[in-house]
Amino acid sequence: MQVAEAISARRARRTLDTRPISDDIVKELVEAMRLSASCNNSQPWRVVIAKDNDSLALVKSALSKGNVWATRSPLILVVAAKSDDDCRLSDNRDYYLFSTGLAVGQLVLRATELGIIAHPIAGFNPIEAKKLLEIPNDHVVITFVICGYLGTDESLLSDKQRELEKNRPERKSVGENFFNGKWGVPLTI
Ligand SMILES: Cc1cc2nc3c(=O)[nH]c(=O)nc-3n(C[C@H](O)[C@H](O)[C@H](O)COP(=O)(O)O)c2cc1C
Repeated sequence: MQVAEAISARRARRTLDTRPISDDIVKELVEAMRLSASCNNSQPWRVVIAKDNDSLALVKSALSKGNVWATRSPLILVVAAKSDDDCRLSDNRDYYLFSTGLAVGQLVLRATELGIIAHPIAGFNPIEAKKLLEIPNDHVVITFVICGYLGTDESLLSDKQRELEKNRPERKSVGENFFNGKWGVPLTI
């Protein structure tokens, strides 16, 4: 699959199959994060991989109600990082979240190429997650990446989530986010 195809095929789907994901695939996903760029190669991401029933149960117990669809997942990556582990530069440029986000981006595209949904979420209780997984308190639990093969059982989805499965949500027009030459001048391409 070309990168452009993976970018276009990737979607935050929620209809998961409970079928397990092999360790060979987990290895590929780990490698996709390992090779990611980071400020000064600091590699600030720390990832707890939940793939056995006990650790999955712990992670799932920290999910927000709106993410009950994720309880069907056979593989969840709990991604954490701390500020001290990456560049801290002038004008509030604290790079740990950026570097970790880039690594998750690579993981998500590689998963897409392998035919797997990798859906990052923010809807969980981070304090509970830290306690249950023994993540040190000075780390921020940034996201859970919910992984799974696409399934057909939509029973855990809300009506709105069921609707969202059909089409990718709308994007802003280019000129709202992208500027031509200086701030505020909409790019027109
Ligand atoms: C940082 C982040 C947090 C998100 N949190 C949730 C979440 O808690 N629950 C959920 O169902 N989707 C979550 N999503 C998925 C977004 O809703 C989704 O990416 C967005 O609506 C665009 O849809 P698309 O990814 O299918 O293009 C999150 C995505 C990101 C990047």
